[in-house]
Amino acid sequence: MKVNNKDMRPIWADPEDTSAVCVIDQRLLPHEFKVLTLKTVDETIYAIKEMVVRGAPLIGATGAYGVFLSTLTSGQGSVADLDTDCRKLKDARPTAVNLAWAVDRVFDAVKNLEEPEARIREARRLAAEITDEEAENCRKIGEFGLSIIRDIHKKNPGKPVNILTHCNAGWLACVDYGTATAPMYAAHDAGIPIHVWVDETRPLNQGARLTAWELGKHGVKHTVITDNAGGHLMQHGMVDLVITGTDRTTYTGDVANKIGTYLKALAARDNGIPFYVALPSSTFDWTMKNGVTDIPIEVRNPDEVSRVQGLFNGDIVSVLLPPSDSPCANYAFDVTPARLVTGFITERGVCAASEDGVMGLFPERF
Ligand code: MRU
Repeated sequence: MKVNNKDMRPIWADPEDTSAVCVIDQRLLPHEFKVLTLKTVDETIYAIKEMVVRGAPLIGATGAYGVFLSTLTSGQGSVADLDTDCRKLKDARPTAVNLAWAVDRVFDAVKNLEEPEARIREARRLAAEITDEEAENCRKIGEFGLSIIRDIHKKNPGKPVNILTHCNAGWLACVDYGTATAPMYAAHDAGIPIHVWVDETRPLNQGARLTAWELGKHGVKHTVITDNAGGHLMQHGMVDLVITGTDRTTYTGDVANKIGTYLKALAARDNGIPFYVALPSSTFDWTMKNGVTDIPIEVRNPDEVSRVQGLFNGDIVSVLLPPSDSPCANYAFDVTPARLVTGFITERGVCAASEDGVMGLFPERF
């Protein structure tokens, strides 16, 4: 996608330094646009943990580049060192399955290569390939999701399609296009009038900061709302469709996504509003059956709840919200059971959120 008319991705191999990887620092957006350079696996782990980069497909791509950076140092020593780095990378964030998927894919491809140089070359090539694949998967998700939006528009041609989304499942989270946002961009580019309700998404406000920034840069009409507004809007006919992303989806259809997604799915069901989840196949957990009991839910630093970051007099500042001695808890994700999900939008098409539905699109996985 474009930033100030320049094609941009949230991660890329540094063209001027073959031992470095560049990322957009998402902690500072939308108020400051800054690019950071990663040169070591520890810097990569820090970037994932501290959410310099975030969003499931991007965490995966970053993990893949982390393995490449490891081949430059520990990988030259022994495969055991590389393995240790890969384990540390995979532990950086627990919920998004894309991270382990991408790290394992690069590690498996290079672990048997004898020559350090060959490992470096292959890890760099594969990290770039994974990154490109995720971008292409999201482009296809956009095409399949477009038909859902087009069908809704056909039923009410005189009015914009109102879509609600949670968190940021946009190009910043996914290399390009986004997952939840890809159908929105595709519809907008096809001339279908849409308007997006953007949940602010406390505590880190990925909706208010990142989704609103992305949609605005692309000229998509949107309105930022509080996380608790969605139910009211749905009751009053102001939402036609909900589309979210996901960090891990079981092969049976349970969906882990940013905390608060489950409540939106409940409200959508109560109001008869379709609730779709958009994801590339890298976000499916092909081994996990029960998402509610088994998906690991990240618990982050309570300071992210007690403090809010914003712009004040031209500076990015962080302010304290509750009484300084009130304990806070920061559950970062929740799980929406398959029964509340209307369908999945994937790079292979749209399917029911069920084992049979997923098997229909990805038979080779079963
Ligand atoms: O904590 P984050 O910002 O990494 O969480 C991101 C989300 O919850 C996204 O909705 C999810 O990764 C899907 S991105 C395509």
